[in-house]
Amino acid sequence: MTRILHRDPKHSLPVAVAGHGPYVVDSAGKRYLDASGGAAVSCLGHSYKPVVEAIAAQLNRLPYAHTGFFTNEPSEALAEFLIERAPKGLSKVYFLSGGSEANETALKLARQYFHEKGEAQRRWVISRHQSYHGNTLGALSVGGNPGRRRVYEPILLPANYISPCYAYRGQADGESAEDYGLRVANELEAKIQELGPDTVISFIAETVVGATLGAVPAVPGYFKRVKEICERHGILLILDEVMSGMGRTGSLFACEQEDITPDIVTCAKGLGAGYQPIGACLLSEEIYQTILGGSGAFQHGFTYIGHATACAGALAVQQAIEREDLLANVRLRGAQLADALQRRFGEHANVGDIRGRGLFLGVELVAERASKRPFDPDLKLFARVKRHAMEAGLMCYPGGGTVDGRAGDHVLLAPPYIIEEDHVGEIVDKLATALEAALKEVAST
Ligand SMILES: Cc1ncc(COP(=O)(O)O)c(C=O)c1O
Repeated sequence: MTRILHRDPKHSLPVAVAGHGPYVVDSAGKRYLDASGGAAVSCLGHSYKPVVEAIAAQLNRLPYAHTGFFTNEPSEALAEFLIERAPKGLSKVYFLSGGSEANETALKLARQYFHEKGEAQRRWVISRHQSYHGNTLGALSVGGNPGRRRVYEPILLPANYISPCYAYRGQADGESAEDYGLRVANELEAKIQELGPDTVISFIAETVVGATLGAVPAVPGYFKRVKEICERHGILLILDEVMSGMGRTGSLFACEQEDITPDIVTCAKGLGAGYQPIGACLLSEEIYQTILGGSGAFQHGFTYIGHATACAGALAVQQAIEREDLLANVRLRGAQLADALQRRFGEHANVGDIRGRGLFLGVELVAERASKRPFDPDLKLFARVKRHAMEAGLMCYPGGGTVDGRAGDHVLLAPPYIIEEDHVGEIVDKLATALEAALKEVAST
């Protein structure tokens, strides 16, 4: 009997009671290798002492002080740390409690920027199909995942979509990756023209698409063209790095590998690594100065923004990543994991694509490789993989609706940055066990 409204109330869950490095332990003593960091959160694993100590020290000094009255040392230090390392042009930070709040904040910040500039007629946000930006109503409104939106559709804000950059399914035969990237980026130009260039506020996209597509990076040149189009029309580029940021792809900000600076970038999961709930919205000096020189204040705020303990925890996380050069490990283990997945599943009849960057990898499952035909969505293959993986002692993050929001299955892998070579082998072995069990089950239904 539980008093909690769980995500899936019809199924009971094991009780997590302890964490050791990349393992979570349940109340029966069973160990699960966390190959997805939960949902790409736990980048330092589950027992990283310096972070726990930093949080305890902050709690003993000052847990929280409302930002309407005070600033605090950890949030100032964390902002300094992030801006020193952020793409040039980003100069201020707004701290939230998670990714949805960070994107909600980014959308409002972009709207207020134009309001201050005397361009109050700007009202549209453009985003991409098969994206996810959070579950609050504003963030859900710009999200392109039909499954997550369906129930709330009548109360969401109007959305304007273009295609994702999803080469496995979008790139035409005989088309180069670069040409494909330009073709889908140019959809942004067409959508801006359709809406009216002076009515558009921003374009929002995940730098590497996470939960909805399964670790899909853009092809080379795509984001450069997107940035060019945004600049041409004075539209703000918001990059959602809630999942892909803070080192997950091998660079602190995923957009470093695209060689562009967005006007706003959001991050969350890897920022606090699960030790504290925290998100952040980084903004350009231009946005900051426009608001400062206009009404003088951002019309926004939540009770827990700039939370002292959350910021102290996140600062300790980020310092640990840097001190221990964990991004080098992300690149090394990421390459090993990608390689191991390729060797084990590269020729598998039901694996269509293996992709991703750093320790952010996706395996797309298909009923038939040649035609890329997905499994019948009613089979819910992704959910079966997750169940069998848990049985095998592996946490991974399978998702459905990969192709069009309904059909398609993928498995997202996002293990902690601290994994070693043995863990790579264990992930692939256990995933193979889970996949075979799920496929066998599907074959017999
Ligand atoms: C890309 C992206 N944006 C936003 C969110 C929402 O973050 P949160 O669940 O912390 O509100 C997520 C969560 O999975 C995400 O993957």
